[in-house]
Amino acid sequence: MDKLRICGNGPLNGEIRVSGAKNAALPILCTSLLTADTMRFTNVPMLRDISTTQKLLQGMGVRVMTDNVHEMEITADHLDSLVAPYDLVKTMRASILVLGPTLARFGEATVSLPGGCAIGSRPVDQHIKGLVAMGAEVVIEHGYVKAKAARLRGAHIVMDVVTVGGTENLLMAAALADGTTILENAAREPEVTDLANCLVAMGARISGIGTNRLVVEGVDKLHGCEYAIMPDRIEAGTFLVAAAITQGHLILRNAAPRSMESVLDKLVEAGAIVEAGDDWISLDMKRRPKAINFRTLPYPAFPTDMQAQLMTLNCVAEGTGVVTETIFENRFMHVPELNRMGARIEVEGNTAVVHGVDKLSGATVMATDLRASASLVLAGLVAQGETIVDRIYHLDRGYEYIEKKLGAVGAQIERIS
Ligand code: EPU
Repeated sequence: MDKLRICGNGPLNGEIRVSGAKNAALPILCTSLLTADTMRFTNVPMLRDISTTQKLLQGMGVRVMTDNVHEMEITADHLDSLVAPYDLVKTMRASILVLGPTLARFGEATVSLPGGCAIGSRPVDQHIKGLVAMGAEVVIEHGYVKAKAARLRGAHIVMDVVTVGGTENLLMAAALADGTTILENAAREPEVTDLANCLVAMGARISGIGTNRLVVEGVDKLHGCEYAIMPDRIEAGTFLVAAAITQGHLILRNAAPRSMESVLDKLVEAGAIVEAGDDWISLDMKRRPKAINFRTLPYPAFPTDMQAQLMTLNCVAEGTGVVTETIFENRFMHVPELNRMGARIEVEGNTAVVHGVDKLSGATVMATDLRASASLVLAGLVAQGETIVDRIYHLDRGYEYIEKKLGAVGAQIERIS
């Protein structure tokens, strides 16, 4: 099993190209289930979750071509199976995203229930509630969601919680439904917007894109198109934290600064000099970071997927920062590992109080989820001595060539088996 060995060695300096966004790519690849035409995707990140999606689609009979790195052509002119099996769903919860489009186009879909994961129980009740409102007959049997509907019909759906995946599933389903669907309290995350823009490029009729009220006028058919996946705001944010804590200077290319304003604001509050253009961001840090307080909330507020990384910044900052996690009930699994590296974090319920220390010390640490792993890699960049981050298969789900990207800007980091 691969690990990362990191030796803290001072400021990072240079340029990094940001990859395509994992959380935009996963739903967007599933749009190919909505049309018999070929979909062509560019800026697709090379990640474990992307290969899992590829396997999932291929298992259903979809043709996937990946001639060029970061490009994919997908044709779902027919399906051999309308089932997303447990073996794949258990490795990637986002597999639930095939439910809406498969049901909408083929009248039937069976998807293994994802179950809980390291960061929380993560139910899919809102996905199901929406599909039922659109006329689907849904049963949960033997750990699977089985949904049927000759043709989904438009409905007025008010989501009980803001859910990214739920909004995405229902948006894809509504695109081919009969009549108008209104999704209220919809998620506004940039990845939802990217999906909506892709659907529009396929011929879908969606208004309110970027707001929490999406109105979808269903059409009979969607067509193929070429679509470039948006840049990954979480990968970008992770690199900016790396620059901030090492007191370095990084320029990110192919970035989407407008999708990550809450994170940029927090980095400025921590003392960084941040500049941005349409597709680049630079961060220059000339001092020890100041501790910051933040609370995770749905977009446009501070993202839960950056909580662990900013927590690492607080670990080495001047002062005390208070971090509240409101999206997932168990997303502080990095805390005991950071404390093993000399951090001073106390957790009470969904709040962590982080007292900044002068130095972290390298240790062997283990990650339990993707962003927790990222926070440990960041900690390794500023720790004294050697840090080994174990179980980096979590990291490989969401960070493309992370050791190469960080190595190229001066980090001492290598992958070991
Ligand atoms: N929820 C429900 N019922 C539902 C759906 C969600 O109660 O039917 C709850 C969840 O349990 C959670 C909250 O609503 O407490 C938000 O969950 P959401 O559905 O928004 O999350 P998701 O779609 O499963 C995506 C990202 C996550 C990211 C969250 C929140 C993808 C593939 N995953 O998950 O990304 O943390 O939105 O922004 O888009 C990651 O990249 O590390 C990651 C975990």
